Amino acid sequence: MPGVLIAGNWKMFKGPGEAVTFAAALRDRVAGLDGVDIAVCPPYPALAPVLRTLDGTSIAVYAQNVHWEAEGAYTGEVAASMLHELGVAGAIVGHSERRQLFGETDETTAARAAAALAEGLRVIACVGETAEERDAGQTEEVVRRQTGAIADVVGLHEGLVLAYEPVWAIGTGKTATPAMAQDAHAAIRSVLDVPILYGGSVKPDNTEELCGQPDVDGALVGGASLVVDSFAAICEAAARIP
Ligand code: PGA
Repeated sequence: MPGVLIAGNWKMFKGPGEAVTFAAALRDRVAGLDGVDIAVCPPYPALAPVLRTLDGTSIAVYAQNVHWEAEGAYTGEVAASMLHELGVAGAIVGHSERRQLFGETDETTAARAAAALAEGLRVIACVGETAEERDAGQTEEVVRRQTGAIADVVGLHEGLVLAYEPVWAIGTGKTATPAMAQDAHAAIRSVLDVPILYGGSVKPDNTEELCGQPDVDGALVGGASLVVDSFAAICEAAARIP
C-alpha cells in the first residue's frame, strides 16, 4: 500500500444529495494532499452520485457491505458484480454493527470478502473484541479467531485490508490507547500480514499517534468522517506521518 489509508464509513447517514455536497467539498479540500490514500463509504443509494462527483480524483468509493453469491433470491442484498459495474472500488465486510445487529458471523464475513475479491473489488474486513471480551482477557484470542476465519478462505490477497475496531470504542468517544491498538494489530498481523486499519473514535487529534504505531496502517473513521473539516483534518494528520 503506497500510503496510510483513511476510510470514512458513513454508516446510515447522507442520502444522495447530502453525499454529493460532501464529496465535492472533500474533493476540493484534499486536492493535492500527498502521502495518504482516502476512501469514502457512502450508503448504497449515494454510491453512483458520489462516484460521479469524485470521478478523476484519487478518492476511492467503497460500499459498506457486499453479498457472497453472484445473484439470486437474497432480498436486500447487493452482489459484488453490481458494485463493480457501478465503478465502486471495494467494500467493507464484517463491521461489528453487521455482526451485532444483523447476524453477521466469521463465516459470512469471510464469504463476503472472498466474493468481493474474486470480482476484483478491494475489501476492508473488520475484526474486534467487545468490552466483555477485553475485560475477560480474550482480546487476542478473539481477533486471532476472527482474522483466522478470513485467512482460511481468502489468504494473503493483495486486495485485502483488515480493520481492528474494538467494539467498545465505536461511536463511544472511547479510543484504544496507541499501545492497545498496537498490541491487537500485532496479534492480527501474526495471523494475516496485510495492511491493518484502526477504527473506533478516531479524531483529528488522535490520528497521528494511533496511525503512527508500527502495525497501524491507517484508520476506518465513523462519526468524524461525516463532517468535511474533521475528515479532512484526519487525512492531513495521516499525511504527516513519516
Ligand atoms: P467511530 O466508528 O469512528 O464513530 O467510532 C468507527 C466505525 O464504526 O467504523
